[in-house]
Amino acid sequence: MASDTLTITDNRTNLTYTIPIEDGTVRSMDLRKIRTSDEDFGLMMYDPAFMNTASCRSSITYIDGDRGILEYRGYPIEELAERCTFLEVAYLLLFGELPNEAELKNWVHEITHHTMLHETTKQFMEGFRHDAHPMAMLVSTAAALSAVYPEAKDVHNPATRLHQIKRLIGKMPTIAAMSYRHSVGFPYVYPDNDLSYTGNFMNMLWKMVEPKYAANPVLARALDVLFILHADHEQNCSTNTMRSVGSSLADPYLSVAAAAAALSGSLHGGANEEVLKMLDEIGTKDNVPAYIRKVKEGHGKLMGFGHRVYKNFDPRAKIIKKVADEVFQVTGNNPKLEIALELEKIALQDEYFVKRKLYPNVDFYSGIIYQAVGFRPELFTVLFAIPRTVGWLAQWQELLMDSEQKIARPRQIYTGQRRRQFVPMEEREPAVLAGA
Ligand code: CMC
Repeated sequence: MASDTLTITDNRTNLTYTIPIEDGTVRSMDLRKIRTSDEDFGLMMYDPAFMNTASCRSSITYIDGDRGILEYRGYPIEELAERCTFLEVAYLLLFGELPNEAELKNWVHEITHHTMLHETTKQFMEGFRHDAHPMAMLVSTAAALSAVYPEAKDVHNPATRLHQIKRLIGKMPTIAAMSYRHSVGFPYVYPDNDLSYTGNFMNMLWKMVEPKYAANPVLARALDVLFILHADHEQNCSTNTMRSVGSSLADPYLSVAAAAAALSGSLHGGANEEVLKMLDEIGTKDNVPAYIRKVKEGHGKLMGFGHRVYKNFDPRAKIIKKVADEVFQVTGNNPKLEIALELEKIALQDEYFVKRKLYPNVDFYSGIIYQAVGFRPELFTVLFAIPRTVGWLAQWQELLMDSEQKIARPRQIYTGQRRRQFVPMEEREPAVLAGA
């Protein structure tokens, strides 16, 4: 009779073990009892880069990579992008339900009233060199907020936790905008509480001498939709960092800074900036075949292509193409679009990319839209970090309320030397250094 168990025979000992299967998984700790002797530590799983390891239970985001499905708390991303605002989706991700009218009004009010930065934080940002990368400024400033709000350490207090969550969601656009104004040498613009989340962000970025800045509503809505698409994506590299750092009970500012640092890498959120660099390098549509040939020969990657989980299409990339149409009606076409479309067309027919199931991901078209709206490429990853802060915080909160979680602490297979004879200074020979 079928049972939800796995029977394993250890051919080293001829012993047989039966371990439970729950939710399509076996527990690694159940393997520990498989040993060759009393001294043996027990069997471990080896899974570099977590290719096939679930590290938590989560009820926030569902992804079916083969079918191209993405849902937040059970709602399809397509519907949320069509019908919600970003702050509405933030509420859903954090609390599990869509807010009613009164709840949303209150939530928007609360976030809006946490957008200001302490003046000392502003001065901290002024200390950066004029050419500091905005992501470096964002990571450092998020961490610096830990010094401003020491009560944030009380991570097991739900009220304190919620307070910091509101502060982080409110302040991220302010930090992002200030990092931009700093890099172009313009005076900082303080938040305007009359404006929407994205409208206020655009105000802080681009207001000059006019008494009241009015963001183009189509562009503000496009940004809101892009924020919805980027808000969470289950256990990706930066979210795993947030959970890992948060598991030590570090405060949320430091944990978010760590997560944002993980996001900055070119294989993760930094890819959107790299896509623009790649399109610049390609230059014209005619150069696309040669560029693809170069990638296939092993020289670099097609940035904005491929995904660890999506092996059919990235549903966010589909929505983004629609947003692009709306944005270009206002801004005129971004000339890079022609190159991107050609790249996509050729790559999707090419055996190399088809065989490896490489499709455009969320970063492929987002940069082209951001550039058309007026953002500089250095700011693209910051535009990813603002909404993803919500996902990081939702996952962090879930982690802290999960009684099965402990401090994250993977095991290793030690491959180094053991018990060497100490070599005195005068006897040491020049050697090839590890990591050099
Ligand atoms: N261009 C060319 N070849 C690629 C690409 C690419 N963009 N992505 C993967 N491959 C190849 C890779 O070389 C490997 O080939 P082979 O089997 O011959 O060695 C094969 O496809 C499998 O790739 P992988 O590196 O094992 O896949 P992964 O799941 O470890 O990596 C990825 C996923 C997203 C890091 C990778 O596809 C990549 O580097 N893409 C470009 C960077 C990018 O666009 N990142 C944004 C990801 S989506 C937003 C986010 O999560 O931040």
